[in-house]
Amino acid sequence: MPEIKLEHVTKRWNKFYAVDDLDLVIEDNAFVTLLGPSGCGKTTTLRMIAGLETPTSGRITIGDKVVFDSALGINVPANKRRVGFLFQNYALWPNMTVYQNIAFGLSNIREPRRLTKQEIDETVHRVARVVKINAFMDRYPAELSGGQQQRVAIARTLAPEPAVLFMDEPLSNLDAKLRLEMRYELQRLHVETGSTFVYVTHDQMEAMTLATQICLINNGVLQQYDAPLTVYHRPNNLFVADFVGNPSINFIEAKGAQRADGAVELTLLGDKKAVFTPAGPLDLPAWFARRDGEAAAAEQEHSKKAAEKGFVEKGNKDETFVYHIDRVTDEEEAPAQTAELTNEDLVIGLRPEFIEIAEGGALDGEIYGAMPTGMESTIKVRVGDYLLTGVVFGSTLFKIGEKVKMNISGGNILLFDRKSGRRIAAGTLEF
Ligand SMILES: Nc1ncnc2c1ncn2[C@@H]1O[C@H](COP(=O)(O)OP(=O)(O)OP(=O)(O)O)[C@@H](O)[C@H]1O
Ligand SMILES: [Mg+2]
Repeated sequence: MPEIKLEHVTKRWNKFYAVDDLDLVIEDNAFVTLLGPSGCGKTTTLRMIAGLETPTSGRITIGDKVVFDSALGINVPANKRRVGFLFQNYALWPNMTVYQNIAFGLSNIREPRRLTKQEIDETVHRVARVVKINAFMDRYPAELSGGQQQRVAIARTLAPEPAVLFMDEPLSNLDAKLRLEMRYELQRLHVETGSTFVYVTHDQMEAMTLATQICLINNGVLQQYDAPLTVYHRPNNLFVADFVGNPSINFIEAKGAQRADGAVELTLLGDKKAVFTPAGPLDLPAWFARRDGEAAAAEQEHSKKAAEKGFVEKGNKDETFVYHIDRVTDEEEAPAQTAELTNEDLVIGLRPEFIEIAEGGALDGEIYGAMPTGMESTIKVRVGDYLLTGVVFGSTLFKIGEKVKMNISGGNILLFDRKSGRRIAAGTLEF
């Protein structure tokens, strides 16, 4: 089973960079989800690896074989890349039975040799068992439910034993329950087949639950490539923090500076004071110096590239993510002048589950709304003019207007730099 490697892969249409300088290693046997908002470049990335789209520049390697290299003029056609596809519109052949649909691809195999009738029969039955459709072999697609059709499509894709299986939103037209069921099937399939799965979705929940690695893209640019829980608890920047997690993370604007003992003293939520203690050693001035150094280096690199022949300026510019602050009075305030931002301008990222309602808690709030589901309640708590979203486990009933006291629990509170949007540290927050 091969490893897939992308180096500086770029795809642009005129000034529009659909994929911008993507570096990515998809390890053998991984289950990678490509995640990001609509139009961020997921399908384009998949199509380039598969050989259905020609990159503008860069290099793609599958196993020990270079399948694309713009500099060397290598471009291996799609049918020689040994990859399987499963696209959202997985049209089955309506005039063929389930058996024939699955067998069709196998009877077309010519390399290294044609398969015998018996080999085809064995394979069809084996994959049909894997996706649990062996009871329907003689039915036609019209005689199957949507989920069964989907499973036939998966079986058909699996049958030729592709070393790499690409799936582009394969579950998007199933109902919520079937979707969940199919997720389990896919997870099992991944283990049973030992293939490498690359799976496109814009559903963060699907990406979180299925993947061994999440590749989160925005505007053609890789934002983070990590295990799901790392992406959740240690997002690289504000965009990533906001994109994963449901209900969304709370962003709290804060001003502050580091004390001699390493903790950061903050003023936030109006005039409240809090102390952020980073989990590891942090030298905040050095962090900012490094940020500025990297920005300068990137700028230099950019002007160097801009001077090269054939360079095209990116039309869809990259911008720092604009986060939302939830307030009681949702009056539009004049947008903050980014030029005025200093190194004292920070943002705290607080996941809902870290808001702890506790008697004697240090932070005062008032219940603004509560949605109990039985297992847990999602609540909105008003602190001054601000609204914080919390998740409380158990069947507690909250009354609107009820006064509560809160603590912020755990060591996964995030500190971001407002100017660059990047995560500075994780740690604890005490009011
Ligand atoms: N042939 C093309 N010519 C010009 N622009 C294109 C072309 N194909 C795609 N694009 C643009 O490239 C961007 C990335 O497209 P892509 O299909 O990869 O998005 P995606 O991440 O798969 O989105 P979705 O979640 O909506 O499927 C989009 O903004 C799209 O408009
Ligand atoms: Mg797409």
